[in-house]
Amino acid sequence: MGVTGGIAAYKSLDVLRMLQRHGHGVSVVMTHTAERFVGSASFAALSQREVGTSMFGDADQPGYHHLDVNEGKDLMLIAPASANTIAQMASGFASNLLTSCYLAFRGPVVVAPAMNTSMWLHPATSRNIETLRADGVHLVEPESGLLADGAVGPGRLAEPSSIVAALEAVLGASQARNDLAGVKVLISAGGTREPIDAVRYVGNRSSGRMGWALAAAARDRGAEVVMVQANVDLPREGGIRYIDAPTAAAMRDACRAEFPSCDMLIMCAAVADYRPVAAADGKLDKSKADALTVEMERTTDILAELAALRDDQVLIGFAAEHGPEGLERARGKRTRKAVDMVVHNDAATEGAAFEGPDNVVTIIGPGESEAALPRMSKRECAERILDAACPLVDARPVRA
Ligand code: CTP
Repeated sequence: MGVTGGIAAYKSLDVLRMLQRHGHGVSVVMTHTAERFVGSASFAALSQREVGTSMFGDADQPGYHHLDVNEGKDLMLIAPASANTIAQMASGFASNLLTSCYLAFRGPVVVAPAMNTSMWLHPATSRNIETLRADGVHLVEPESGLLADGAVGPGRLAEPSSIVAALEAVLGASQARNDLAGVKVLISAGGTREPIDAVRYVGNRSSGRMGWALAAAARDRGAEVVMVQANVDLPREGGIRYIDAPTAAAMRDACRAEFPSCDMLIMCAAVADYRPVAAADGKLDKSKADALTVEMERTTDILAELAALRDDQVLIGFAAEHGPEGLERARGKRTRKAVDMVVHNDAATEGAAFEGPDNVVTIIGPGESEAALPRMSKRECAERILDAACPLVDARPVRA
């Protein structure tokens, strides 16, 4: 449990007591600012464990390593989380023991912010909160009420009982989910670029975030994950094998090579439908012509091609559409490409932008089912997609 600076820090003692009543062992890490509000001795006495406050141990702890505190922990809770700590977490700073532990921690993270209303409502804080959500952090929203500074508004630390309930839900979910153990999942992400000449290409706006979220979610549920990626500029994560495939042709080759040994294919990439018939040598010279016509040819539909080659793989496609007829078109793609599920999103919907942290999707299939989900983080979307796909993996006959 991380405790940061703020008047609400005293409530962390109640959270700690409640967690203990629920049978959890708790180790506390405090920031120096938190120590100005509550003494570390109180947390040490209650937790009956040493409280971490510094990156550098005492002289009498020669083997001390500041990240040892993460060892054997199932979950990280930060309550209260100040605007400053939230900003540091969102930016990846490791400037104190708590933020270092956060960066190095591999399990679920629950954050309960508390701050003055103006700070909570500042666009910088909103941006940082969105970043944390996109990174898979679980937020326990602050409550509205009378704050320490006399103002009334959102920013007050959630009640200890709400924090503990949220933590139990996350812990239960993460421990129950190892439902993709032994399953190999092939995911494509990003947008292909088809060369016009040595420096120009025809491309699209896909950022790869949705595919990245799917890969992390599948990995965390125990899957072996292979990511075929086209031009994604996002940090690569541990536990995932990456194959670079910048063009539709390269993506087709990589997917065909991996497909036979995989159990599930999630085609999340925006693959070009057309490519220039031939890329010009060198760089086209604009002084040579006032207009440029590029002859384009169709690329192979990778998903449809693999569906025809399928053994017992579960197949999931995406359909990024634009406008009201999109859902019907997405339904049609599922039938036409003979896949189990199609995830539809309408790029015209607020919050479903290519580059954003959130998505608004409808999961079409399996079978007759169709689930229109509200706006949520791409990570949460990924979990919902895998929730729907898992029963299909289990229902397959056992492979010889
Ligand atoms: N797809 C593919 N190979 C292509 C084009 C698309 O595997 N050459 C996959 C995408 O990864 C996605 C699904 O097919 O999972 C639907 O892609 P989308 O571009 O929405 O549909 P298209 O079939 O290309 O049809 P259209 O562009 O006409 O909407």
